[in-house]
Amino acid sequence: MSDRRVVLVTGSTDGIGRATARALAAGGMKVILHGRSKPKVDAVLARLTEELPGAEIEGVSFDLGSQTAVRRGAEQILARVPALHALVNNAGIFADERTLTEDGIELTFAVSHIGHFLLTELLAPRLEASADGSPSRVINVSSIAHTRGRIHLDDLTLSAGWTGYAAYAQAKLANVMHALELAKRHDPAKLVAYSLHPGVIGTKLLRQGFGPIQGGPVDAGARTPVRLAAAETVDDPSGTYFSEGTATQPAAAARDLDVRSALWDASLRLCSTTNPKRSQV
Ligand SMILES: NC(=O)c1ccc[n+]([C@@H]2O[C@H](COP(=O)([O-])OP(=O)(O)OC[C@H]3O[C@@H](n4cnc5c(N)ncnc54)[C@H](OP(=O)(O)O)[C@@H]3O)[C@@H](O)[C@H]2O)c1
Repeated sequence: MSDRRVVLVTGSTDGIGRATARALAAGGMKVILHGRSKPKVDAVLARLTEELPGAEIEGVSFDLGSQTAVRRGAEQILARVPALHALVNNAGIFADERTLTEDGIELTFAVSHIGHFLLTELLAPRLEASADGSPSRVINVSSIAHTRGRIHLDDLTLSAGWTGYAAYAQAKLANVMHALELAKRHDPAKLVAYSLHPGVIGTKLLRQGFGPIQGGPVDAGARTPVRLAAAETVDDPSGTYFSEGTATQPAAAARDLDVRSALWDASLRLCSTTNPKRSQV
């Protein structure tokens, strides 16, 4: 059996996630590619396998906007890999209209936050059990847009006042808060959590959300998640937020302990109430 460290990168069929997966595989980690579309996962898997002889790469596909699919995907991952050392929660969208998922959650929030929250809860025991002298890592790809976000605890689906940007900024703020709460709730010897802004990077999401502006190369966007996932030892305290590689204080809103804890509780509720058979996550 291979002794490579194992990393799952969500949304690695395109953009920053694909560059992250590629660099981690080239650097010697076993990589689980993930995307919402199986044909796209298979195509990226075939391409990377050809480009990187000797790399160990697998694929898994599930829609982060569907809790049933996330649970099924987590089961597949747990069945396939006995150890998991890093989870890069990278997938994200910028929506051009307000839609609700089958679970009744606004799509941007569902994909970027709730899907990752649920996936992380389902994989956390395996991540913790895989810590081997150095802690396992959860790395949330957030955005500087989190500084403009607000968590609408009384209306997380933004039934009033939805805009694509308000939904995106709320979800990206939730990514930072999620990492900070994970840092509080897990023993840092076993699991550490980080969040980051990758820079303004020329991807599909950037074009969809912000128009035809010039962004940096995807490899630059991948630099921080790659470093955090691959480093043999982690020096930065769990919970640290990085802006383009530099440890930075996140927005004051992210440091509001009451809202953070309320968001955690609301996220747990949203993951359990949508499936009455699950009393916990
Ligand atoms: N680009 C920037 O300037 C920038 C700046 C700050 C933060 N970010 C963050 O960086 C992360 C990556 O974004 P990107 O810019 O690289 O965008 P991207 O190129 O559009 O990639 C997004 C990835 O997420 C996947 N995805 C979307 N919806 C999904 C769903 N429902 N279930 C599963 N996977 C799904 C996409 O799959 P498909 O291939 O099928 O579309 C794709 O692999 C995001 O979290 C974004 O918020 C980006």
